[in-house]
Amino acid sequence: MGEGKSKESKETNVDSMLGRLVIEKNLCTQSEVEECLDVMKNLARQGQPHSLSDALVAQGYVTATQLNRMRKAIDDARPTHRIPGYQILEKLGAGAMATVFKAKQLSLDRDVAIKVLPKRLSENPEYVERFYQEGRAAARLNHNNIVQAIDVGSASGYHYFVMEYVEGKTVYDDLAGGRAYPEAEALDIVIQIAEALEHAHERGLIHRDVKPKNIMITKDGVAKLADMGLAREAEDEQAAQMEAGRAYGTPYYISPEQIRGELDIDFRADIYSLGATFYHMVTGRVPFEAATPSAVMHKHLKEALVPPDHINSSLSVGVAEVIEVMMAKRPADRYSNVTVLLEDLERIKAGEAPLQAHHLFDEGALANLEKNKAEIEKQWAEKEAHRAPLGLKMAVIIMAGLLMVAILAIIIILSQR
Ligand SMILES: Nc1ncnc2c1ncn2[C@@H]1O[C@H](COP(=O)(O)OP(=O)(O)OP(=O)(O)O)[C@@H](O)[C@H]1O
Ligand SMILES: [Mg+2]
Repeated sequence: MGEGKSKESKETNVDSMLGRLVIEKNLCTQSEVEECLDVMKNLARQGQPHSLSDALVAQGYVTATQLNRMRKAIDDARPTHRIPGYQILEKLGAGAMATVFKAKQLSLDRDVAIKVLPKRLSENPEYVERFYQEGRAAARLNHNNIVQAIDVGSASGYHYFVMEYVEGKTVYDDLAGGRAYPEAEALDIVIQIAEALEHAHERGLIHRDVKPKNIMITKDGVAKLADMGLAREAEDEQAAQMEAGRAYGTPYYISPEQIRGELDIDFRADIYSLGATFYHMVTGRVPFEAATPSAVMHKHLKEALVPPDHINSSLSVGVAEVIEVMMAKRPADRYSNVTVLLEDLERIKAGEAPLQAHHLFDEGALANLEKNKAEIEKQWAEKEAHRAPLGLKMAVIIMAGLLMVAILAIIIILSQR
């Protein structure tokens, strides 16, 4: 009896998802779906229960092939588990690490987005502990440019993260196919995300994964930073490198210190990643491109950045300078915090030259000069070190030569006697 009831409610759930989907896909109108629901009710009264899919096909609104496609979409959208208090509506997307669903928070009757962790992470107690810790910290943040964290929890062995549902697109969607943003638009979005980071940093939270896929843009043009407070998986160098390659796809925006797996990364890692995102937005290209994730990471560590204005010559000098400082390889050569960065971004927006960037640019160049000087001196010293034994060898050879000449001379003199 109980099983029959749960089967019935499962069917009803599928029907309501199907009903929504056919309307969304413009295959049927609301009234056509309602008509089919009436047909179903009549048939049920006559003791011939039919599903909505049967009724839609019977009424000629949807073909069997269209229905099969819908079924697949519904199967994809349904999580294999339930989350108490929420009704899962549809799948919004899946990243390398987790799946995101749109859901209704029943208590407040509002739409939310739920990120469900895969089993692999859900079964890692160390990760789960950090997931809850950071989730709680993120829920205390409240900023218009941060996707609001709402809840963390677990159900049926899966851990999940509930957040504000954002209707819109991601910056990644805009950049697809090598498109770039006009400078002013990119600047506007980067300023909003920098404000989000300033709010989080002031409260001790580092994002660690700022990238175009984690910046959502609402219909009104508000930029929102997503995944704030989603703990990263790795805490040591080897794990960081594995994670960067596996869980985060090709690591186009990751800071050098994160690649090295440094344990004490700070807010400046977010500044680097926001710089790399800004670079992509204004040039249409990622800062470092290579065939494999490890080759991309190697370039973040070692290769000099092609200045963004060399790729997009219409870019203002100010923006190019700010990006280069944001993406300095050494954290010490970057902006020391987001507040200082924001001052420069606001100046550029007002048509003025960035102040800090000039200053840091000079310091960075100076540091490089110092580094080069030290490097040259080191190489010189090494050469010198090699030179000493060489001199010794030469002296021995000369002396041996002289000895040979002397012996030859003695032999000649003796033989003439
Ligand atoms: N709060 C949200 N509201 C609406 N849609 C969202 C929300 N969060 C995520 N999404 C959608 O779900 C998709 C998957 O998000 P997820 O964070 O799992 O991966 P990602 O950031 O796209 O990529 P990666 O796994 O490489 O970090 C996003 O691309 C976005 O389209
Ligand atoms: Mg994300």
